[in-house]
Amino acid sequence: MTDFVWGVATSAYQIEGAVTAGGRGRSTWDTFSATPGKTRSGETGAQACDHYHRYPEDVALMRELGVDSYRFSVAWPRIQPDGRTLNRAGLGFYDRLIDTLCAAGIAPMATLYHWDTPQAVEDEGGWLNRDTAARFADYAAVLAEAFADRVAMWVPLNEPAMITLLGYGLGQHAPGQALLFDALPTAHHQLLAHGLAVRALRAGGAGLIGTANNHTPVWAADDRPETLAAAAAYDALHNRLFADPILLGTSPAHLPGFEIPAEDLRIISEPIDFYGVNYYNPTRIGAPAEGNPLPFELGEIAEHPATLMGSPIVPDGLRELLVQLRESYGEALPPVYITENGASFAEDLIDGQVHDQPRIDFLSAHLDSLRAAIGAGVDVRGYYVWSLLDNFEWAEGYGQPFGLVHVDFATQRRTPKDSFHWLREHIAKQRG
Ligand code: FCB
Repeated sequence: MTDFVWGVATSAYQIEGAVTAGGRGRSTWDTFSATPGKTRSGETGAQACDHYHRYPEDVALMRELGVDSYRFSVAWPRIQPDGRTLNRAGLGFYDRLIDTLCAAGIAPMATLYHWDTPQAVEDEGGWLNRDTAARFADYAAVLAEAFADRVAMWVPLNEPAMITLLGYGLGQHAPGQALLFDALPTAHHQLLAHGLAVRALRAGGAGLIGTANNHTPVWAADDRPETLAAAAAYDALHNRLFADPILLGTSPAHLPGFEIPAEDLRIISEPIDFYGVNYYNPTRIGAPAEGNPLPFELGEIAEHPATLMGSPIVPDGLRELLVQLRESYGEALPPVYITENGASFAEDLIDGQVHDQPRIDFLSAHLDSLRAAIGAGVDVRGYYVWSLLDNFEWAEGYGQPFGLVHVDFATQRRTPKDSFHWLREHIAKQRG
């Protein structure tokens, strides 16, 4: 794996803090996390890892780790605080970050949207409003103009499925709406935003453009027809909702009533250069119980150990889903990058060390699984660990440490964990 890209990933709201610095506007996550009862102990990203001020130290850590690339996200409310007007100070922050990365020999991969919608855009309907896609395209054009000369890889939207399911469907994430199936227009509009952004980025001279879609192997709880139908419905919502329109230019199968007009599908299926996959775990699905408004029931995967978040640890699920993607999409699947994979564990900082052997085991097993997928013919070109730093894990607040680097949130002191040292050696060995 000599040309293979090794990377780490983060996102703006989860690490930057400095939420009023440099003219940044309010985001939906500022609003949501300030609403009582929405996040663990009312925690917010107001300070997070203070990466906005400490990015030189964080880039130095990445350099020590030896990664080729860093996947970060740009906070839309720093660039267009009201969702329209350009804020040059916001561009300035990313300009400094990108220059620091380039000077360290680390290729930037920029995500345009990792869930922090400008509140002003949300106030006009957010992703329920088709016009948000056009606004997003303007924002993408601004970023291309500013950074296409230095940013090698671009991802318009991170995990749009989670915005639709958790943000608008179930209300567990910002903006906190529980519309169930009435949330589906947010999928259509995000898809349109993706396609329009691909066009805007390409017109602005951007290099490689892809996705960061999350995928889960769907395991039917048994083989009764109603269970298999439930599993197909869940697969449609979680996996196919964004992959089918982007890769095939069709409305997703198994989602009756969700039809995207042909002229929009043409925009959405604009060719991309890579397909970024975020993988965490498989999902077991049962037939819906009486009275369930959803067409499926989430089941337990108790036969596998779990992370601190309760996610089952199934390394082979990565191979399974990559092989499935290849089978489902064939030649329509461009080269794949794993844009996120990682886990949170209970761990302590003792005498300046964090012995996170479970994370080392997790990463090592997932990399073996990735190699098995490559061996089975899937063209995977890179792997980004989620995450460089312990950070603000959305509704879970600071209770789920995912970092290769421990962060003491009271002092902002960074301490590389054992997994950091393990990965550094692993990358060096692969390079030979
Ligand atoms: C992914 C998100 C990322 C982080 C990880 C744990 O779904 O993209 O921001 O929360 O999960």
